Amino acid sequence: MTENAKVALITGASGGIGREVSMGLASEGYALSLAARSRDRLEALADEISRISEEGVPLVSAGDVSVPEHAERVVAETIERYGRIDLLFNCIGIYRTGNWKMDPTDFKEQISINVMGVFNIVRSVIPQMLKQGSGHIITVASRRGKIADAEEGAYSASKFAVVGMSEALHRELTSKGIKVTVLCPGWVNTPMVKDATFPKQEMISPRDILETVRFLMKLSPAACVKEVFIEPRNDIS
Ligand SMILES: NC(=O)c1ccc[n+]([C@@H]2O[C@H](COP(=O)([O-])OP(=O)(O)OC[C@H]3O[C@@H](n4cnc5c(N)ncnc54)[C@H](OP(=O)(O)O)[C@@H]3O)[C@@H](O)[C@H]2O)c1
Repeated sequence: MTENAKVALITGASGGIGREVSMGLASEGYALSLAARSRDRLEALADEISRISEEGVPLVSAGDVSVPEHAERVVAETIERYGRIDLLFNCIGIYRTGNWKMDPTDFKEQISINVMGVFNIVRSVIPQMLKQGSGHIITVASRRGKIADAEEGAYSASKFAVVGMSEALHRELTSKGIKVTVLCPGWVNTPMVKDATFPKQEMISPRDILETVRFLMKLSPAACVKEVFIEPRNDIS
């Protein structure tokens, strides 16, 4: 790792938004730690990044971050390799449609991954950021964390929880030098929503999320953005 490089841990790095943000931060000189379940997709991304980055091949941690021990391992390996974490970009998530008739097992899985997966990583990263007296935690929630949908009850519940968790962390950690921001985008054109009826060409682009992260990272230490709510132009209801 070069002397002035910043370190970012990105969960959900293999997906549509996480991949875009990983590539974008790599091109800006960040040293990266990439996490998701699929080792193949992470290694392919790490290989691609190694060709554009001066920081070498990113660290890859494959596994399920809704399992606390794995989340702890991801964070420990990142600190062992790089010595610090400047940015945690929480981008894991699954999307299950369904209303109150939904099977409890599916509801539980939705909450377990979208909420516990974020919590497990955050609770492991915060001690390191407190030690540093600096850091930024950006979590991707959703527009569904602000406006629920009848057919997306479990997903909406999980994202309201993530917005609440992030706001609590913002209130607790900002005075200690750690910024906390939650992103609440509507439809983003990624594999997660490939079956949506909303037109793909009217969706927010993963690049828009990368540009939002870039904007947040350029602000002075004095400026803290608690939440960014991004709606598709043709989905304002
Ligand atoms: N696309 C949208 O319209 C939209 C809108 C608002 C918010 N969001 C949110 O944005 C985030 C990224 O979504 P996306 O659209 O980029 O979807 P995506 O392409 O499906 O990406 C999801 C990522 O999360 C990883 N993941 C899922 N469960 C995991 C687990 N238990 N442990 C570790 N990694 C896990 C996936 O990789 P593996 O499958 O390899 O684990 C993948 O890298 C999600 O939180 C999503 O809810 C998406």
